[in-house]
Amino acid sequence: MKPAESDTSAPGTARLGRSVHIAGIGSYAPERVLTNQELEKMVDTTDEWILTRSGIRERHIAAPGQATSDLGVEAARAALADAGLAAGDVDLILVATASPDMLFPSTACQLQHKLGARKVAAFDLSAACSGFIYALEVGRQFVASGTHDTVLVVGADKLSAITDWTDRATCVLFGDAAGAAVLRHEPGRRGILSTHLGADGSQKEILNVPAGGSAMPATEQTVRDKMHFIRMSGREVFKLAVNAMLSAARGAVEKSGLALSDINCVIPHQANMRIIEAISDRLKVGMDRFHVNLQHYGNTSAASIPVALAEAVRMGKVKRGDNVLLVAFGGGLTWGSAVIHW
Ligand SMILES: CC(C)(COP(=O)(O)OP(=O)(O)OC[C@H]1O[C@@H](n2cnc3c(N)ncnc32)[C@H](O)[C@@H]1OP(=O)(O)O)[C@@H](O)C(=O)NCCC(=O)NCCS
Repeated sequence: MKPAESDTSAPGTARLGRSVHIAGIGSYAPERVLTNQELEKMVDTTDEWILTRSGIRERHIAAPGQATSDLGVEAARAALADAGLAAGDVDLILVATASPDMLFPSTACQLQHKLGARKVAAFDLSAACSGFIYALEVGRQFVASGTHDTVLVVGADKLSAITDWTDRATCVLFGDAAGAAVLRHEPGRRGILSTHLGADGSQKEILNVPAGGSAMPATEQTVRDKMHFIRMSGREVFKLAVNAMLSAARGAVEKSGLALSDINCVIPHQANMRIIEAISDRLKVGMDRFHVNLQHYGNTSAASIPVALAEAVRMGKVKRGDNVLLVAFGGGLTWGSAVIHW
């Protein structure tokens, strides 16, 4: 075992091992853009309803035949290019997704093959919209322990594949995309200062895809009953989401040893503008310190945080030396947050 290094532990945390930073970040969204106006022709809705209730104007939709791993591999290539690394440098692949290519093999295995990576360990992680932050922490542990040097963490979802396009309550909210980060240790860089993860398995009824797993295998009846699509009680999810994100945000900031006033940029899960505004209000962190791009992507589940983070970095809203707070919630319920010294 390599000894712990003195530059690594953030004040107020009991983290052991090497510091871990995001050496490269990238994102991908499919070409096809589906606007609110087009949705007006598909279901009984209006641009005005979607915009005022969610903030979403348009979302990207994968092409037929384009699977979640195809979205993920594009984001992975962009993240590796950003890090100045090649596929052959990767020594572990994690994919967070709620819409895997198939039940098994994992999407991470498909992505490893498509990326042309070595035959390194690859596995999926399921935490719905919190998946990227869960995977970030799992990847961080591998690098921190010194067992792995370069970990590829991908958040990818093709929710259009599990959306009921006749259900106006859900189909207006989601989109397809992928984001990826390359995790490494670099002496002198603090990187990920803290994370905070949680789950409440008692809330599965308010957000789920009921059929297709072992609890309710696929039958003609489950297909007829549309049990392979996302089901959601929007209002209940909304309330729990605000509380979960608030406690997650406060938890990670407290563990990082920083104060909320030290946070330069918040990257929230991009589900709904009103949820984000409620969090901004309750945390007393102005919306000018939040990066929001849901108007162009909708809720892209595990891709939402890395897509928004990659965009914020590209736009110069997140710069070297900034303190960034990531915060998400999702089906499970799950929630997660991280503070990163960029
Ligand atoms: C889904 C959400 C936007 C709905 O907003 P809301 O203000 O709670 O609206 P409600 O669900 O109470 O519905 C209000 C009315 O609008 C209707 N409605 C629902 N979807 C509609 C649509 N796309 N267009 C027009 N009307 C719609 C409802 O049928 C309801 O009509 P009723 O009052 O006649 O029954 C909101 O609850 C939300 O964002 N929840 C969180 C969802 C989320 O983030 N999920 C992902 C978790 S990772």
